Amino acid sequence: MAVIFSGIQPSGNLTLGNYLGALRNFTKMQEQNECYYCVVNQHAITVHQDPALLHRRTRELAAIYLAAGLDPEKAALFVQSEVPQHAQLGWIMTTLSYVGELERMTQYKDKAAKQGDSIPAGLLTYPPLMAADILLYQTNFVPVGDDQKQHLEITRDLAQRFNRLYQEEVFTIPEIYLGQGGTRVMSLQEPTKKMSKSDDNTMATIYVLDAPKDIEKKIKRAQTDSENSVHYDAETKPGIANLMDIYAAVTDTDHAAVEREFSGQGYGQFKKSVAAAVIAALEPIQKRYAELIDNPVLDAILDQGAVKARETASRTYDKVVQVMGLDRK
Ligand code: AMP
Ligand code: TRP
Repeated sequence: MAVIFSGIQPSGNLTLGNYLGALRNFTKMQEQNECYYCVVNQHAITVHQDPALLHRRTRELAAIYLAAGLDPEKAALFVQSEVPQHAQLGWIMTTLSYVGELERMTQYKDKAAKQGDSIPAGLLTYPPLMAADILLYQTNFVPVGDDQKQHLEITRDLAQRFNRLYQEEVFTIPEIYLGQGGTRVMSLQEPTKKMSKSDDNTMATIYVLDAPKDIEKKIKRAQTDSENSVHYDAETKPGIANLMDIYAAVTDTDHAAVEREFSGQGYGQFKKSVAAAVIAALEPIQKRYAELIDNPVLDAILDQGAVKARETASRTYDKVVQVMGLDRK
């Protein structure tokens, strides 16, 4: 059985991009593998979070994981700050990292550029904490969207560096797992930009918990082009290409099939079908979410997930401590 680890930050409302690029793959993988899925709240605080909002979003995100089909009997679901080995190994990974390689991370450059002169150091040391998340579980595969490729590369580098430095195979070298389609959902308003939970323009983003009428409105107003013909060209028709990607992902088909289905139809009809398909995909998730969010079972599941995670994480961490000479006895 392979070990799978992934995490999502509770830093905003979950988007269709998060669902198609990340969550959906998580639940598929739980059948055949040993899975750990984490609400990475300590990553979220690399930029300031309002405490009440962070608290609420942590629970919401956990409920959405479950609503999307995560089975707590098959996969451990837990909150990062409840497993202290993440921060502990994160510090060790920080000491192994070079400032230069951290400064080269595009996510760091993007986020730092928004912070003016006072760039929180945690933005820079975000990747070594992410490496710790992954390496604690001896992870084989990490399902994420393609924006996380660079972070996976540095995780592998740090694992190899550690193993080489201490001349012992302490860490498994993890691999990225990119899902089939919908790995990069674009903004509905600026389709050359990634759909993001931190976008200020809510018309650009479909949230997993959006009401059907909002989903219809957003897709109806999505940016397209003047050609009025549904065919795939990400260069010249990024808006239509994005809607085709979304439609293909939620209905489990490919571009060619989408082109055939809508040949001869205009954008108005196509957009209606895309909206209907997205609503159909999200509705069952929203229903289960409503049943879970105020249910004590949510806490029981997270407690149980943290116990299992601590058990696995402490095995790796204790080994690290011993190999590095950080133990006293
Ligand atoms: P984030 O929202 O950046 O915390 O990302 C959480 C997970 O969702 C990561 O695995 C991302 O790669 C994935 N993800 C985020 N936005 C998108 C998007 N627009 N399309 C596909 N995957 C995404
Ligand atoms: N960096 C990821 C993101 O922004 C979130 C994350 C933190 C993560 N730790 C992780 C993803 C470990 C996978 C594995 O989306």
